[in-house]
Amino acid sequence: MSNQNPESRPSSEISVAELSPETAKAELERLAAEIADHDRRYHQEDAPSISDAEYDALRRRNLEIETRYPDLVLSEGPSAQVGAAPASGFGKIAHRVPMLSLDNAFNDDDVRDFVGRVRRFLKFDPLMGALAVTAEPKIDGLSLSLRYEGGKLVYAATRGDGATGENVTANAKTIKDIPHTLQGTVPDVIEVRGEVYMAHQDFQALNARMEANGGKVFANPRNAAAGSLRQLKSEITASRPLKFFAYAWGEMSELPKDTQNGMVALLADWGFQINPLMKRCETVEDLLAVYHGIEESRAQLDYDIDGVVYKVDRLDLQERLGFVSRSPRWAIAHKFPAEQAWTVLNDIEIQVGRTGALTPVAKLEPITVGGVVVSNATLHNEDYIKGIGQDGEPIRGGKDLRPGDTVKIQRAGDVIPQIVDVDLDKRSADAEAYAFPVRCPICNSHAVREENEKTGRKDAIRRCTGGLICPAQATEKLKHFVSRNAFDIEGFGDKQVDAFYQDDLVKVPAEIFTLEARDKQSLTKLRNREGWGAVSAKNLFEAINARREIDLNRFIFALGIRHVGEGNAKLLARAYGSWETFAAAMEAAGEQTGEAWTDLNDIDGIGHIVAEALVEFFAESHNREQLAALLEEVTPKDAENIEASGSPVAGKTVVFTGSLERMTRDEAKAMAERFGAKVSGSVSKKTDLVVAGPGAGSKLKKAQDLNVDVISEDGWFDLVGAN
Ligand code: IVH
Repeated sequence: MSNQNPESRPSSEISVAELSPETAKAELERLAAEIADHDRRYHQEDAPSISDAEYDALRRRNLEIETRYPDLVLSEGPSAQVGAAPASGFGKIAHRVPMLSLDNAFNDDDVRDFVGRVRRFLKFDPLMGALAVTAEPKIDGLSLSLRYEGGKLVYAATRGDGATGENVTANAKTIKDIPHTLQGTVPDVIEVRGEVYMAHQDFQALNARMEANGGKVFANPRNAAAGSLRQLKSEITASRPLKFFAYAWGEMSELPKDTQNGMVALLADWGFQINPLMKRCETVEDLLAVYHGIEESRAQLDYDIDGVVYKVDRLDLQERLGFVSRSPRWAIAHKFPAEQAWTVLNDIEIQVGRTGALTPVAKLEPITVGGVVVSNATLHNEDYIKGIGQDGEPIRGGKDLRPGDTVKIQRAGDVIPQIVDVDLDKRSADAEAYAFPVRCPICNSHAVREENEKTGRKDAIRRCTGGLICPAQATEKLKHFVSRNAFDIEGFGDKQVDAFYQDDLVKVPAEIFTLEARDKQSLTKLRNREGWGAVSAKNLFEAINARREIDLNRFIFALGIRHVGEGNAKLLARAYGSWETFAAAMEAAGEQTGEAWTDLNDIDGIGHIVAEALVEFFAESHNREQLAALLEEVTPKDAENIEASGSPVAGKTVVFTGSLERMTRDEAKAMAERFGAKVSGSVSKKTDLVVAGPGAGSKLKKAQDLNVDVISEDGWFDLVGAN
């Protein structure tokens, strides 16, 4: 495909080398949105939808583009953050020492490179003797930071986005491996870090219990551990058999030992569980021997591990090595290869999503891969079935997939498995290539691959053109509308959506809110339906009525506008403050020129693709009609910032430019927002304040030209009184 003019393809399909600055910018925005979405699924919903390898590939592509175009790096982009921001519901705790992640090594040579890099960085040549490095299992759970003062546990915090985590103290205290009081002589302040996990047997017993009680089962021990720790009721956490391995530390008022190995032994003396497989090695070959040994014993371990972590043993060397963006230079995670198995592709099923996307799913002859029974695999889109990847390159050697084929499944980590190979020798002579449907299997409308107007390239996704007449799209939209992070209507789940839709009771969101009034007039009352009674009907109406007033960000998210997830909905709510202002701005931005359009694109974190999706949504007359009907019933509340009342920058638009020395861009943004300010990426006459650090260039000049107040970073701290 690379013989095509790169500009005529979607940015996702262009190789990094071919990206122009414009397409690179669009691609960075797209990747930021996609990675943020996967981070949220993984960290907040414990429900990842792609494999670790695919995720790593997205991050790698992002990094490659950033390396090629350093000027285009987004301040809010993936390299600026680790994981997803904390979920609401728990108090937040700012980590005094950030909780970072680890770089990955995928083979023995990567490990040799790592040790070589460390030696070069330290100018530690072989004549200076052995460079000791520890090796220990990488536990597949979730990390936790425990702060002790005077030997007593003061709080426990999850990693969150690395800078701020969730306060899960009450829950952590229910875990037996987490001491409330430490033994022996302990420095005044210590933060112990490690992994919360669930043992295999406990996981199976828990799932059996959940299933017997009619509840949802967890896909794997990691999700079970995460879901159990992040319960709002600590009694629930207490009933879940969680465990904890200590392997690192954060803030320490004093470091009693000078090696990793020594410190970990001390953690055991203080009362923590440490991993018994940890070894200190003096050569790369020893490290690799430990790795392969652990890999072999993996199946016998009672907990999931996904690799081996190597750490430079001497703490003074760790200190000298320091960090690069999100990971330490002195450590690396050597990942285990993904697990694979052969099975039969029984069928290809097409699912239709909220936006009409026809998503093919492989229906497999169930097979156990790495201890998990797999019966579905992701097929992404029709090119993927044909054996052509998103980048236009052949995948599986360009072999297409046909129902009946014998296929190799790969499961990496805990996510949806992939098909990585086809055994053509086993294909029967009469097997026909799979014809991807050109009509929606649900409503029979034409399903098309839209052409990108600018590039002339076909979208990878085929979409049903039925819009609201397509029951699949309509019900998926309704399911999204009532879901937990949108309207969150209790007792109105997928089952109710399907049943009410089928019986013409609720076809569009507004009808949810007219259900009670119509029920009063109706002869076939809800309470008389099968599975319903007077109490459950009353409860449902109450739950619906309780949502007639709703936070603006939830309202925006509930609309299901493409590319507008929870994070973007929050940004929009904060930027516009009220529904009226937001809606008026979206309509005014419709021509994609002018002030309203510029303002929308200037919101830090809202990229071009999101902006386009928003104005397209508002330009569609049937969306406006539905909105009008919905707003007859529901009132979005103005976004307000309680913490910010009385703040000198509340409601102001602030731009940070130049290099900041006391905080990262993210911290600056979070801080400004905490004090009620809006942060924008560019200076205009709407800007109230510019905070300029050394090296500020065109933005500073523009601020001076426009007579906008300019202050230094110190001035900012003085102004908000956060010194
Ligand atoms: S050390 C500064 N050791 O892996 C680095 N991490 O990808 C501190 N993990 O967030 C981490 N087992 O949740 C370390 N033995 C181990 C680990 C481990 C699991 C997790 C941890 C961390 C992630 C990094």
